[in-house]
Amino acid sequence: MINNSLTIRRLAIISPQLEPLPHDAQWVPQCLTHEEQLMLVEEIRQIVTAAPLFVPKMPRTGKPMSVRMTNCGPLGWVTTKEEGYRYQAMHPETGEKWPDMPATLLKLWDKYADYPKPPEACLVNFYEASAKMGLHQDRDENNFDAPVLSISLGDTCLFRIGGENRKDPTKSFKLTSGDMMLLTGKSRMAFHGVDRIYPGTSTLLKQDGRINLTLRRVTA
Ligand code: SIN
Ligand code: FE2
Repeated sequence: MINNSLTIRRLAIISPQLEPLPHDAQWVPQCLTHEEQLMLVEEIRQIVTAAPLFVPKMPRTGKPMSVRMTNCGPLGWVTTKEEGYRYQAMHPETGEKWPDMPATLLKLWDKYADYPKPPEACLVNFYEASAKMGLHQDRDENNFDAPVLSISLGDTCLFRIGGENRKDPTKSFKLTSGDMMLLTGKSRMAFHGVDRIYPGTSTLLKQDGRINLTLRRVTA
């Protein structure tokens, strides 16, 4: 019985190279070389020094999310119990403006986003071994025409993506360090989330865990 359910779970992890993703979300495995990933991690360390990680809190309940986060770029995504999800130009705890977005990320956007304006926010999410992110849509932007471009660094995660309705069927697959995901066109509003991290699957970071960078256009 146990074996059967394990088999079923394993089979449910698809290979996007063989099977299309819902709404043609795009997955670019190993988009970044190891050297590019190392450079990016160093740039993120500098960003975190200037704009320390904070614990995002769910609107209304104030429940802490399991990721810690910061941002770079002209705008940053934040959430607090009192004011909920929003973009703002200042770090919620230091009151300082966010650090600039590294040129490496702007270049990636130019190459893959197929959108005439630059990204305005880059969310930097840190997942410890036990962190996850529930199924959600990225819908706090005033612009759903631009894609959401996201990069994985460090430990592998189990990523899940469905359709535009929470109850639509989902597909799961593993994102590894250096992979890129593009939620574009219809997939821009697809529900997605991270079910788990596989600690010890990458040596890129000094400790277990995963970094996800999400580039977004916020204004029209
Ligand atoms: C997010 O949806 O904000 C993060 C997705 C990820 O960590 O890959
Ligand atoms: Fe998201």
